[in-house]
Amino acid sequence: MDTVEIALTVNRERVRRRVEPRKSLVDFIREDLELTGSHVGCEQGVCGACTVRVDGALARGCLTLAVQCDGATVETIEGVAASGEIADLQAAFAAANALQCGFCTPAMLLTAQELLRDNPTPSGAAIRTGLSGNYCRCTGYHAIIEAILATARRRREDGRG
Ligand code: FES
Ligand code: FES
Repeated sequence: MDTVEIALTVNRERVRRRVEPRKSLVDFIREDLELTGSHVGCEQGVCGACTVRVDGALARGCLTLAVQCDGATVETIEGVAASGEIADLQAAFAAANALQCGFCTPAMLLTAQELLRDNPTPSGAAIRTGLSGNYCRCTGYHAIIEAILATARRRREDGRG
């Protein structure tokens, strides 16, 4: 299979690789860059486990081809977590027991962060709607919603929401 050279920025680092044109972004991130926080579930855009940011917006890593990201800026859970941007959200998830197996958690955190950015005062119902594209098989969602509500409250108290 022929390969194509792509150059992009991943978690603030310039990356240049040759990839097969059919390779998905999430497979590229996991296999070629060995960043395994983005997960592969359904591979058809339903479960949300493969969520990453491409040029600042959430994207399904399973429905995006790596070659489509030539020249793009990609952020994975590893980079977002390392930046400290979601440290309070991560702490709230831990405090609320909002994760069990953890498979959905990286994508949940990225989605929750975008949700809070768009709506700093979400209701429980708004959070449920915002997370409707992210499946969790373990928690029943209640603790996840509590963690996001607690983060929103704390950010408002700290003047960050
Ligand atoms: Fe991409 Fe399920 S693996 S949405
Ligand atoms: Fe297991 Fe969400 S914690 S899938």
